[in-house]
Amino acid sequence: MSQKTERYELLIQQAKGLLTGEFDLVANMSNLASLIFSELPDLNGTSFYRYQNGELILGPFQGKPACMHIAVGAGVCGTVAETKQSEIVPDVHQFKGHIACDSASNSEIVVPIFQDGQFFGVLDLDSPKFNTFDGVDDHYLSQIAPIVFGVPAEKGVIA
Ligand code: SME
Repeated sequence: MSQKTERYELLIQQAKGLLTGEFDLVANMSNLASLIFSELPDLNGTSFYRYQNGELILGPFQGKPACMHIAVGAGVCGTVAETKQSEIVPDVHQFKGHIACDSASNSEIVVPIFQDGQFFGVLDLDSPKFNTFDGVDDHYLSQIAPIVFGVPAEKGVIA
């Protein structure tokens, strides 16, 4: 198991432990953004954006102040809102329309989040390093992000 995989396996357990039995979305997005930001290396931003009234609106996040409204189709997040597919961006300076919230960002991953099959929003991780993210990040972040909807106590690690 690679170091990255091991870190994510632990992160899933930590996320479930932290959020089990809690169903308040703001509280869960806040703590999950903080957990990811503090546990994964090489990050300068971890942001939730919710899909509301046809656009993405900033939710709980860690890092520098971020862009608050993103139109569908704009930047990396808006592209994911349009395609509902993850985007792994090795060099944000090469991504047409990239929205630079923090000039320190050089690579990025954005994964879509679904609630009961409906598009809920995105989770966006930024890195000051180039080439930080790959399919392993996509695989695990796609599993970790929906933990914001809460884990019933009987299914959680605390049960
Ligand atoms: N870079 C993102 C905007 C969000 S900030 O990075 C937090 C984008 O291009 O959609």
